[in-house]
Amino acid sequence: MKNLAPERSDLDPIEIASIDEIRSLQLSRMKWSLAHAYDNVPMYKQRFDQAGVHPEELKTLSDLANFPFTVKSDLRDNYPFKLFAVPQNQIVRIHASSGTTGKPTVVGYTKNDISMWADMVARSLRASGTRSGDMVHVAYGYGLFTGGLGAHYGAERLGCTVVPVSGGMTERQVTLIDDFKPTTIMVTPSYMLNILEQFQQAGIDPRDSSLQVGVFGAEPWTDSLRREVEESFDMHAVDIYGLSEIMGPGVANECVETKDGLHLWEDHFYPEIIDPVSGDVKPEGEMGELVLTTLSKEGLPMLRYRTGDLTRLLPGTARSMRRLEKITGRSDDMIILRGVNLFPTQIEEHVLATPDLAPYFQIELSREGRMDSMTVLVETSNPSASQDERDAVGNTLQNTIKNTIGVSANIKVGSSGSVERSQGKARRVVDLRVD
Ligand code: DLL
Repeated sequence: MKNLAPERSDLDPIEIASIDEIRSLQLSRMKWSLAHAYDNVPMYKQRFDQAGVHPEELKTLSDLANFPFTVKSDLRDNYPFKLFAVPQNQIVRIHASSGTTGKPTVVGYTKNDISMWADMVARSLRASGTRSGDMVHVAYGYGLFTGGLGAHYGAERLGCTVVPVSGGMTERQVTLIDDFKPTTIMVTPSYMLNILEQFQQAGIDPRDSSLQVGVFGAEPWTDSLRREVEESFDMHAVDIYGLSEIMGPGVANECVETKDGLHLWEDHFYPEIIDPVSGDVKPEGEMGELVLTTLSKEGLPMLRYRTGDLTRLLPGTARSMRRLEKITGRSDDMIILRGVNLFPTQIEEHVLATPDLAPYFQIELSREGRMDSMTVLVETSNPSASQDERDAVGNTLQNTIKNTIGVSANIKVGSSGSVERSQGKARRVVDLRVD
């Protein structure tokens, strides 16, 4: 793999500024953001008044802990536009989450917000090893989802040639990569596996492809999957994080030279880690729920937004700004099985480490009598494997899961193509339990 680390002179000066400089910028922006939300969004004014706090009382960054949290249901309760802090004619773009239950969550951006977002995705791409002049294949979905358009504007901002493919039609994705020869691909990690399979089916060696870097996010993925993709394509695989409520992709990104967690772009987003139960702020380095405050967003300022994502804050390395440890799950995705807590990423790790298994899996939860049970659907990577051989692979996976996670899982080793393929964000868990 090529060394793709950017020159220090190409970075935004703030990425490598002193911690003092970053904190002082954050403090002045945080004061602005709190006042902007309080003055223009009735919900924030009401909440602050009720809690007996006022933006002017914020004297230091840690004073933020005195202000109330914002949660996902606040967006739903204020559907569609009541959290916007500017008149609707200053909103130039709307995005929304699909919302599996009830109303979707709607977010809005001013012209400046869209520009800041493009800057942050451009910075993320540069950290990933992409440069001006590169061709970027965007396979994140375009539309209300923030992935496609967010990636697109950022790649353009960096000065790249963008191929706005969007998700789906995997055969065509491979043809376009083979014909256009992009050096960067932006896509969910699970859909990248689907593209990998299509390369193999088309008889094209993925290691011969033009791709040098994949910028993967929108769902949790493991270092085992990183290795799988890096080896299969002979390319760098880096992690991009973001969420629509805060902006979209590009809130944090790994640096290709270190791949040691995601540098959070702290000049625009302020992080805290809290205990998800008590809500108390945890000391740096401890695991907990990530809470983010936007520092410059005009259209939809978000103050102390509880992301649900579990991670820890680590000191800067390749950049001065702090890192998020790779996010392996969110509190909503945690499976509690007979008293044991587990995340789908733990299963991913073991599936990828088991020889003769293809890298696809899905978890089915069902109820047998009063007991919950978990079945892991996987596939053999050897089309000529006998039933006995498949059973043996299934037993291996079952034992590893039992010995490392501590739960008894049923394993179903199906034939090639039997596990549902991801078209974007993978559906890792199918819950068949009825209450
Ligand atoms: O998924 C934005 C995005 C698009 C990020 C493309 C990266 C690339 P939402 O649909 O609002 O936005 O979902 C946000 O997805 O709270 C996390 O739970 C999860 N997530 C996003 N990136 C990562 C990541 C987009 N790199 C939710 N690792 C977040 C783990 C991620 N989880």
